Amino acid sequence: MTKEIKTKKLKELYIKMKADKTLPLQEEAANLVFGTGNPAAEIMFIGEGPGYWEDQKGEPFVGNAGKFLDQLLHSIKLPRESVFITNVVNYRPPENRDPLPEEIAAFGPYIDEMIDIIKPKIIVTLGRFSMAKFIPGVRISDVHGKKKLIDWKKRKITIIPMYHPAAGLRNGEVKRRTIDDFGKIPDILTEVEQTEVVQTEVEQMELI
Ligand code: URA
Repeated sequence: MTKEIKTKKLKELYIKMKADKTLPLQEEAANLVFGTGNPAAEIMFIGEGPGYWEDQKGEPFVGNAGKFLDQLLHSIKLPRESVFITNVVNYRPPENRDPLPEEIAAFGPYIDEMIDIIKPKIIVTLGRFSMAKFIPGVRISDVHGKKKLIDWKKRKITIIPMYHPAAGLRNGEVKRRTIDDFGKIPDILTEVEQTEVVQTEVEQMELI
C-alpha cells in the first residue's frame, strides 16, 4: 500500500470514527483524538488516553507527558513526524481516570484498523493499558524495554513495552529506565529490518 493510499484510508477511518455515536466517553469530550503522524510509519506509539490538552487540541501527547515524549524521541533522533502516535481510547476519560476495559474494547477495532493500514514494524506501548492489549498477563516492571515478536492478525509485529511518560515525570528511577529503554529503539528497528531482508531473500530462493 502506498503512503497516499494509507493517508486516504486513515482519513476515511477518522470520518467513520467521528460519526460513530456508539463510542463511549464522547459526551464529555471536546474532541476526538484520533492520532497523528506518518501514515506509513515504521514505528507506532500507543498510549493510554487523551488528557486535558489532548482533548482541547484533538492531538495525542501535547501536554506535559507529550513534552517528555518529544524529548525521548529527540534523544534517539526520531522526528515526531516520522512515527504515528495514538492511544487505546480516543476520547478523554473524565478527570483523566483510567480507561475501563469495556471502553478499551469499544475503541479496539478502530485501533486495529489503524495498525492494519499503517502496518508498523514496531509498536511501542506506553503504559500498562496499551501493553495489555498486545501482551496480556505481564507486569510492566518485568518486561519494559524488552522486545517481543507477536502474531497480530496474521502478521508479525515487534512490541516494545515502555513505561508511560507521565510515570517517568513522577518518578526519577522510572524516568531513567524510560530513557534507557528508548535508547534501544534504533538497534531494535535495524534488527527488525534486517530480519525482513533475510526473510524476503529466503522466500525468493524458495521460488527458484
Ligand atoms: N497520556 C496518554 O496516554 N495519551 C495522551 O495522548 C496524553 C497523555
